[in-house]
Amino acid sequence: MRLLITAGPTREPIDPVRFLSNRSSGKMGYALAEAALEAGHAVVLISGPVSLPPPAGVTLVRVETARQMFEAVETHLSGCDAAIFSAAVADYRPAQVAAEKIKKNTDTLTLELERTEDILGSARSKFGFRGFLVGFAAETQNLVEHAQDKLERKQCDMIVANDVSQAGIGFDSAENEVTLCLPGGRKILVPRQSKTALARELIARITQLATPTAPKSK
Ligand code: CTP
Repeated sequence: MRLLITAGPTREPIDPVRFLSNRSSGKMGYALAEAALEAGHAVVLISGPVSLPPPAGVTLVRVETARQMFEAVETHLSGCDAAIFSAAVADYRPAQVAAEKIKKNTDTLTLELERTEDILGSARSKFGFRGFLVGFAAETQNLVEHAQDKLERKQCDMIVANDVSQAGIGFDSAENEVTLCLPGGRKILVPRQSKTALARELIARITQLATPTAPKSK
């Protein structure tokens, strides 16, 4: 298969030297890319700024902002059999980017933010993607309910849900534990393990679910 994977955080500029971002390390997305390559798939990895080396054999597209990630996904999605959106995309960006460095000459400073492009939400509706679509959901409460809702709203085939309120898993950690939410309310718990091992299991399940079953021989 040909897979597109998004990974890492995005950076949304405030002025020439500052940005809004988040704690995503990109480890989960890079582990997924590595596991997919190991399984023999071709991988396009669209990555925000991270300090990880790209897995050997990957087609790496480096981006900074949510808008750049949106455009890169739009360019590379057609022709892919599956897409896994593991990036922690900023939901908002500064409405205006200051041309010069903002000076601290007031006691308070208010930044106006505007919504970024919803990349996962655009895969079906704007990009017309018909392959196997996997989104991530990071939640602190009602994990499965929110993930099932996201599955339907964004027309996904799978949501990988992780509880970011638990210490030691998820964001910026070496380990993760996730619940896979599938259509029809089906869910599968993938217990706590290294992101490398978890990535292998996710790729195996995605490969199985995304590959049409071969016609039965007579
Ligand atoms: N995502 C994306 N583009 C965005 C934001 C998120 O593609 N601008 C993708 C992430 O890569 C991840 C999933 O969407 O796969 C996470 O969804 P989230 O932002 O939590 O979705 P919402 O349903 O908008 O939820 P919330 O209201 O909790 O932010």
